[in-house]
Amino acid sequence: MPYGQISAATALDKNITVTTLRKMKQTGEKFVTVALYDAPMAAMAQQTGVEVLLVGDSLGMTVLGYKTTIPVTMEQMIYHVEAVARGNDKSLIMGDLPFMTYATPQQALDNAARIMRAGANMVKLEGGEWLAETVQMLTQRGIPVCAHLGLTPQSVNIFGGFRAQGKTAAEAEKIFYDAQLLDEAGADLLVLECVPVALAKRITENVSMPTIGIGAGRDTDAQVLVINDILGLTPQPPKFSKNFLKEAGDIPSALLKYADDVKKGVFPSDEHTFG
Ligand code: KIV
Repeated sequence: MPYGQISAATALDKNITVTTLRKMKQTGEKFVTVALYDAPMAAMAQQTGVEVLLVGDSLGMTVLGYKTTIPVTMEQMIYHVEAVARGNDKSLIMGDLPFMTYATPQQALDNAARIMRAGANMVKLEGGEWLAETVQMLTQRGIPVCAHLGLTPQSVNIFGGFRAQGKTAAEAEKIFYDAQLLDEAGADLLVLECVPVALAKRITENVSMPTIGIGAGRDTDAQVLVINDILGLTPQPPKFSKNFLKEAGDIPSALLKYADDVKKGVFPSDEHTFG
């Protein structure tokens, strides 16, 4: 499909909410998530039917040139959430709380309120058991939460690099336990990053919240990719990502192809999956 000729049929025609996503999990319809950072891409995502936008702190690496997400600030997150919200009024927008801005429930509440005021519909936090109290506090006060388990990039210095997680039985059990706790605490979504396929499947089948996988196989309720990877802008792309622009030819077609492949369960293929 040539640039500029996105058909009206692919555009979102209603607001995507947490209720929409829960219904999709129940009916087995996969939803599509893209991590992106600016208004034009957000607008194109709306036109191509992308249900969820993540303004990820990955922007520190993809846009700002840092080596990790650790230096990202609240001000940078707010700037990009505002831009994305200006470009798209239908997708559900998640904003990351960056490193060390949610170390206590009160700090999380104050900073989550700032991200929501900037235009997000949900905040995303990295961590397991220790976050259950925070998830409960935020959701009880009207702030939906997406949890994030597995390879949580803000803990890169604990992991000793950007490494897949949950590879031993004990690690996998801990991630499974954390997912159940966060579900019970009221989390609305769960990102599973770089965990074994079998673990992602087991979690997806045992929690009520929809799961979004990245490097976690095709059995999650949704997939997320970073826009830079979709468009082939990453010099050394991770194994789980795919350059959709290469075969699609232009940006809207790349987003449409990604969305279509996720919906059909074709992406990720074995080639883009850990054992
Ligand atoms: O920051 C981000 O973009 C993310 C995704 C890669 C899941 O957390």
